[in-house]
Amino acid sequence: MTLFFPFLLFASVAAQYSITDYAPTINAPCPQASNNVLVRTFTPQTQALNPQEGSYLGARESNAIPAAWSDWVGNSSSIGYNLAFFNGSLPRIGIAVGGQGYRAAQFGAGVFSALDARNSTAKSSGTGGLLQVASYLAGSSGGSWLTASLMLNDWPSPSTLVYGDGRALSGWMLDLDLVAPSSINLGDAENQAYWGSILASVEAKANASIDTSITDLWGRALSYHFLNQTTRNNFYTNTTAHGAGQLWSQIPLLPSYADQSMPFPIIAADSLPSGSGSTPVSLDSVVYEFTPIEFGSWDPSLSAMAPMAYSGTHLVNGAPSSGSACVTGFDQVAFMMGTSASIFNAVDGPNGNFKSFNNQNGDVTGMQFLYEQLASKVHSRSINVANWPNLDGGSNLEQVPLGALFTKARAVDVVVAVDASADDNQWPNGTTLVTTSQRISSLLSSSHQAFPPIPSSAQDFISTGVNQRPTFFGCNPTQFPAEYPLVIYIPNSPPFDGHPPASNTGNLQFTYTPLSTATFIDQAFQNTLSGFVPNTTSRDPNWGRCLQCAALDRARLKLTPPLARSSICVQCFSQYCYDPYNPPSAHELPGRDYKYLNPDPGGLDKVEAFLGRNKNAIIGGAVAVALLIGGGIALIFWWRKRRERKNRYSRVDELREDDEPWKFYDSYPAAHEMDRLSLF
Ligand SMILES: *[C@@H]1O[C@H](CO)[C@@H](O)[C@H](O)[C@H]1NC(C)=O
Ligand SMILES: *[C@@H]1O[C@H](CO)[C@@H](O)[C@H](O)[C@H]1NC(C)=O
Ligand SMILES: *[C@@H]1O[C@H](CO)[C@@H](O)[C@H](O)[C@H]1NC(C)=O
Ligand SMILES: *[C@@H]1O[C@H](CO)[C@@H](O)[C@H](O)[C@H]1NC(C)=O
Ligand SMILES: *[C@@H]1O[C@H](CO)[C@@H](O)[C@H](O)[C@H]1NC(C)=O
Ligand SMILES: *[C@@H]1O[C@H](CO)[C@@H](O)[C@H](O)[C@H]1NC(C)=O
Ligand SMILES: *[C@@H]1O[C@H](CO)[C@@H](O)[C@H](O)[C@H]1NC(C)=O
Ligand SMILES: *[C@@H]1O[C@H](CO)[C@@H](O)[C@H](O)[C@H]1NC(C)=O
Repeated sequence: MTLFFPFLLFASVAAQYSITDYAPTINAPCPQASNNVLVRTFTPQTQALNPQEGSYLGARESNAIPAAWSDWVGNSSSIGYNLAFFNGSLPRIGIAVGGQGYRAAQFGAGVFSALDARNSTAKSSGTGGLLQVASYLAGSSGGSWLTASLMLNDWPSPSTLVYGDGRALSGWMLDLDLVAPSSINLGDAENQAYWGSILASVEAKANASIDTSITDLWGRALSYHFLNQTTRNNFYTNTTAHGAGQLWSQIPLLPSYADQSMPFPIIAADSLPSGSGSTPVSLDSVVYEFTPIEFGSWDPSLSAMAPMAYSGTHLVNGAPSSGSACVTGFDQVAFMMGTSASIFNAVDGPNGNFKSFNNQNGDVTGMQFLYEQLASKVHSRSINVANWPNLDGGSNLEQVPLGALFTKARAVDVVVAVDASADDNQWPNGTTLVTTSQRISSLLSSSHQAFPPIPSSAQDFISTGVNQRPTFFGCNPTQFPAEYPLVIYIPNSPPFDGHPPASNTGNLQFTYTPLSTATFIDQAFQNTLSGFVPNTTSRDPNWGRCLQCAALDRARLKLTPPLARSSICVQCFSQYCYDPYNPPSAHELPGRDYKYLNPDPGGLDKVEAFLGRNKNAIIGGAVAVALLIGGGIALIFWWRKRRERKNRYSRVDELREDDEPWKFYDSYPAAHEMDRLSLF
């Protein structure tokens, strides 16, 4: 017995937390549903929240948010209101954090710290509190890494999440390179052990006869940083699952979901037609979203949702082929994050030998090695991601996932857009907002709220300077209720005080020294605490109150008759609102330094990493850090789309043939191959 006992103990621990928990379960029992139909469909006119989402929102908005407002704005007398006067009818707020790699994740973390009531500096600046009054948090690609990390670590403060707390949270550890963490040496035993672990996870999934791809490798690597089972001590071991087995649909089991302290999370992604390369996907490609409850799209062309927990299940007319033909465990958070991999497709994945990656960190040779290993171990026709129908977080140029928050059923009053796109020299130029605005006005007017007035082009964003400082859009709606939400735009921009920036790093930089991360995040934090004063490099002492004015403003319009805006808020709005008839000027932002300065030039042996930035700039703008999901999505919705085809816009029809992500599968004649593929 003494011999067996430790063995059994080990075995049970291993069974509970293993890297092979990445494998989904096939032939799982299906949930009870009327007529077996798992897909819920609607029209733009009948769209409604999933009842579980609705009840979460209802509970959060009655149990957690009212106290959070009081904690943030007090009785709101400091901005000229009396909170009690609003009778508890306060604006519904959604925050969207956009993508593009580690830059986007770190930028979002800095911004969120400044909006977090738990951060005492943020609290005393008046900005800390917005995070707590938010009902929704939507992320895409790099922003989804932050979103998933916050959620799966049970909603810690962003700085605790990034830096660790010396106890349960070990931090993001971005100094350990994502691809080659130990050294640039391919033969390094620790690199090899790490790669072996990642490959074992993917092999376990493949052994469940589910196609895998480089996306799975990517997702498993991201898990070491953004999910919670990896520390510096266990990094090169198999003693934990390193996040394998953590499922998006299991977020409701977390304590901070149970007590409604987290906003309702959404990951957004748009579909990328097979083989479309790096060219921006047309606006009418369907944008999908993933909540812990369901996934699908509100786009009029689809208007369908399926249960998240059963993603990967092959459905015909919305139903599984039998009561035990469901797939579970497909919605690995690793996969959700790693699905960010159209970067390989769009940039230079396997076919391009990963040559845009930064080999000063060993990323090129590391990726090549991993790819070869995967190809030799796992037989999958889809190993080259170009073959996969996939969903891409930003390849239609919508880096910030605003669409999910503009959906009419969600009735969001205030949208916070956190944008770290690399448009021009790694700075945003408003393209994401222009794109969403065009998408909504041309395709989504029946399903989504209107977009507020913004500069009509990237050029106008640049000339007005609103891409370089916080700006409010849609301050003065003409209708009651307002015809669009108020948008609070927080772009990645150089330090307001003229210091050289550390936040305009490249999309493919996958190592940051601790000092680089700290400098980057602190700049995003300080900018978000500080607002701007026109024609100066000074901090705005009123900014915290101005942000409160913007967050609360729509509450006035919920009263009958509407309450007049307070004089301090009128003052704030004249400074921060975009007025299309009297636009501001980029000249009001003097003394900014736009040129990246490496805050830690001697910080790493791999210091060249930071010099590789300019190379990355070449691919920066169009690179989509993307969600790549299995063909199940396409198949689940195929029947729906086909049914809807007659109702589609004629412009969409023209693109139909290129836009069909299932086309790839159609080209496989053998029935057994179809069966196998259609599982996912
Ligand atoms: C609001 O709070 C301030 C102190 O924070 C207090 O002076 C003021 O009387 C309060 N106003 C109302 C209407 O309760
Ligand atoms: C707040 O609610 C009370 C009771 O429902 C109502 O009498 C009052 O008019 C409301 N106040 C406003 C400003 O709408
Ligand atoms: C507030 O957030 C910033 C940025 O993440 C962090 O550096 C700082 O330590 C935080 N302060 C507190 C008191 O938590
Ligand atoms: C996958 O299956 C192969 C062949 O049966 C086996 O050798 C391998 O150990 C399995 N890998 C994992 C990670 O389960
Ligand atoms: C990871 O987080 C989950 C959810 O909070 C928790 O159940 C689990 O114990 C954590 N694992 C570790 C190793 O901290
Ligand atoms: C983890 O297990 C896999 C599969 O047995 C192996 O290839 C890999 O080297 C192991 N990794 C470590 C860190 O021991
Ligand atoms: C804005 O950024 C996009 C990339 O997102 C780029 O294609 C475009 O040229 C930029 N526009 C201007 C005016 O700089
Ligand atoms: C900033 O300076 C310019 C030029 O001196 C002036 O025209 C403009 O009105 C100033 N803006 C503000 C908001 O004071």
